[in-house]
Amino acid sequence: MPSPESIERVRAGFLEDLARAASEADLRTVRDRYLSRKSGLVPALLKAVATAPADERPRLGRLANELKQKIEAALAGRVQALEAAGPAVEAVDVTLPGRVPSVGRRHPLTILRERIEGIFLRMGYEVLEGPELEDDYHNFEALNMPPDHPARDMQDTLYLAQPIVSPTHTATVLRTHTSGMQIRYMETHQPPVRIIAPGRVYRRDNLDLTHTPMFTQVEGLVVAEGVTMADLKGTLAALARELFGPGTAVRFRPSFFPYTEPSAELDITCTTCRGSGCAVCKRSGWLEVLGAGMVHPAVFEAVGYDPERFTGFAFGMGVERVAMVKYGVDDIRLFYESDLRFLEQFPS
Ligand code: DAH
Repeated sequence: MPSPESIERVRAGFLEDLARAASEADLRTVRDRYLSRKSGLVPALLKAVATAPADERPRLGRLANELKQKIEAALAGRVQALEAAGPAVEAVDVTLPGRVPSVGRRHPLTILRERIEGIFLRMGYEVLEGPELEDDYHNFEALNMPPDHPARDMQDTLYLAQPIVSPTHTATVLRTHTSGMQIRYMETHQPPVRIIAPGRVYRRDNLDLTHTPMFTQVEGLVVAEGVTMADLKGTLAALARELFGPGTAVRFRPSFFPYTEPSAELDITCTTCRGSGCAVCKRSGWLEVLGAGMVHPAVFEAVGYDPERFTGFAFGMGVERVAMVKYGVDDIRLFYESDLRFLEQFPS
């Protein structure tokens, strides 16, 4: 049963709630509490007035209606004031440490590739890039790997279903190595040659700790009169010292590649144990980093160089492999997962 006192209590409650309301959302809550048609206190009051004794009804009705109008006006006034004040200004805590903007950086493989390029540029090499879609001739045949040559099995090749339309493409492959760049360069240049060719290469390999279907190589080629294996050794030993530190020793192991004779693989002192033998180098004290050799005469013949007059050396290294050895990374997949916790650890 409403009374002037209960109407006054609603009014007092409203004024308190209104004083506490600090945002438009607060004001909406207050409006709902007092004016909502379904659950608001004022509509409930008006409904109750209808059941009051007939002689009190006009007075109570007037008081309740006046209250309703006051509440509406007060709410409208506050909404206007809030809008006029603009967006709420939050208090600034000047003791909070500042937010450091995160600055992007180059990928570790980019850093290392550029480092390798820098070393060779200082030795007078030219840096080239070539196509990742390669024809069978440049990727295999001119490198002394005719069709059916068993050495093609050393590399699991990805072929395009349809060769590119081009006079040289009997088959189009995603290049399995950068060695085709040796051919491309010698076809269009006469000796002396001193080049490196960095780039992506592709193999039909599944992802595991040491394999990715795409990785990065740097190819190298030097051709002139009188180039010897001593030049190859000296060059790669210098590279190893620059890349892995002055105390790095190198070791050449006999190997086989169809486009070099003799062929070798280059090992460096294990970067983890410095040669005493550990799990990383399988107790040998050495880590394999690249393949190399003296250019095979058949390769010179393919590009029209006189093998009696010119000699040369070539090498090819995996940038991921070098990065793993240099930084002690045991899972090649980390380079391709874009995990900032990994990527941010590399000096740029
Ligand atoms: N093409 C070889 C590979 O992908 C690496 C290589 C070995 C390149 C010996 C060379 C070389 O130029 O002489 O494993």
